Amino acid sequence: MHIALKVGADPSVAYEQSRSQTRGRSRRITMKNARPLPKVRDDFACFASPSPTLLRFIDEITSGPLGPVLDAGCGYGRNSVALAIRGMDVIGADRDVDRLQILQHRGSQYIAAQKRAGMQSGRVQTICADLTPDRWPIIDSCLSAIVCVHFPRLAHFDQFRRSLVSGGYLYVETFGGHGGNYLDLPLPGQYRESLSSHFLLLYYVEKPTGPLNKKAVTVRLFARKF
Ligand SMILES: C[S@@+](CC[C@H](N)C(=O)[O-])C[C@H]1O[C@@H](n2cnc3c(N)ncnc32)[C@H](O)[C@@H]1O
Repeated sequence: MHIALKVGADPSVAYEQSRSQTRGRSRRITMKNARPLPKVRDDFACFASPSPTLLRFIDEITSGPLGPVLDAGCGYGRNSVALAIRGMDVIGADRDVDRLQILQHRGSQYIAAQKRAGMQSGRVQTICADLTPDRWPIIDSCLSAIVCVHFPRLAHFDQFRRSLVSGGYLYVETFGGHGGNYLDLPLPGQYRESLSSHFLLLYYVEKPTGPLNKKAVTVRLFARKF
């Protein structure tokens, strides 16, 4: 898989960009400098429950344009592995090195264990990066889809649009509205407005949440770039 990164060129390793990023460098995580994997009771539990709404659209993603899928803020990678099991090559990007290491090592075992008869699995490759709009690490027009689930303070729609090929898919799901989450959730119509000039919205569901006077909404959306 060719991973089109601004930060590095070797697709076979994870990159730790976040901690040294202020000086514009990225640190390669190799077997030598990788930290030991955190101990977890069930090695595969973190992969077991991908987003049910994403699964509704996964056939469209897998039959979409060529190119890898970016899972932006992938965490342990429950959605990355769900896509890879269905044949997609996935870039799992997050700023949390520990989560990425679990995805990189245990994710591939899980994908192999879940391999479907007659279907070739995809691969998940990880990059560690601070995914802010001004440090967006992916070059233009190279991704077939972007999945972004439960990412805090999402303001990346311009970057998403640029990195997607024409006809590429975007799946976004905000986190739920419990506790003080509403403070970081969008206003009604905000995501629709941000996307409507460059994307066809195929699915768009908003649910009001938080105090009424704050007008926050949770959003799940699936869209295709024009
Ligand atoms: C709630 S988790 C969701 C993980 C995954 N998308 C899922 O649905 O299971 C949010 C993830 O976003 C990552 N994250 C938050 N801000 C980020 C940033 N600026 N750059 C990269 N990753 C970020 C966190 O490290 C965390 O793994």
